[in-house]
Amino acid sequence: MKIIDGKLISAAVKERVAKSVEQLKEQGVTVGLAVIIVGEDPASKVYVKNKKKACEALGIISEEYALPENTTQKELLDLIHELNNKKSINGILCQLPLPHHLDEKIIINSISPQKDVDAFHPYNVGRIMIGDYDFVPCTPAGIMEMLAYENIEVEGKRCVVIGRSNIVGKPMGMLLLHKNGTVTVCHSKTKDLKDICLQADILVAAVGRPKFVTQDMVREGAVVIDVGIHRTPNGLCGDVDFENVSKKVSVITPVPGGVGPMTIAMLMQNTLTAAKRQNNIDG
Ligand code: GUN
Repeated sequence: MKIIDGKLISAAVKERVAKSVEQLKEQGVTVGLAVIIVGEDPASKVYVKNKKKACEALGIISEEYALPENTTQKELLDLIHELNNKKSINGILCQLPLPHHLDEKIIINSISPQKDVDAFHPYNVGRIMIGDYDFVPCTPAGIMEMLAYENIEVEGKRCVVIGRSNIVGKPMGMLLLHKNGTVTVCHSKTKDLKDICLQADILVAAVGRPKFVTQDMVREGAVVIDVGIHRTPNGLCGDVDFENVSKKVSVITPVPGGVGPMTIAMLMQNTLTAAKRQNNIDG
């Protein structure tokens, strides 16, 4: 059984991005990311702080816009409009969830698709669907990067994704499909979930429920990717019952130290891609 080291792989991605950022600088091109956070959600604050730290480490210029909880929709839209037109900013990320009085859909749609490093805008979602994309949502992108790094072949494999969110489950299914996996996306209304999971060569758990995937749900020798992160009295855990499932599988990602560290690395990569596209640089 192998435990995939997300920290190691994310460091390799970040090193690659940092090198490219440096090369762009030599050509007089800077890379800039704007991160918007509205309100005081403690988890969001940690994520935003980590995104800023990663930018600094990689030579990416970061601008943080911490707006108060009572920010109006117009104020937020005005800021996004300003950033859409700001030359030094290549990527714009608006941390979710937003306070309830703000319409997430309208906000996401207002971000220029060329600067949408989260790949949440319907334009980028559509491009992912047809397999012609620049930006991929960071979590599924990170998972594909891990599979590639570990030389885990997707073609012809039975892939089961549990969870159908717009951020993880749906794009994850599409990326696996583009690699010629045979993909099943399961959700809360799925019947015979256990039987479907038992068929999986590659099982991606993005349910949002602690230790949801148990040993009796995984095939001997399967690859199990755990997207969940939950704070419990006994520390962090994922959507997978790691202790027992790990006894049965060939490869598994831990929580913490698995998928988590990959997401920020992929955000950095999307930001670099944005800068390249906006400056007509290939690669
Ligand atoms: N909140 C939780 N995950 C994410 C993410 O990937 N992007 C944004 N913008 N907000 C999030």
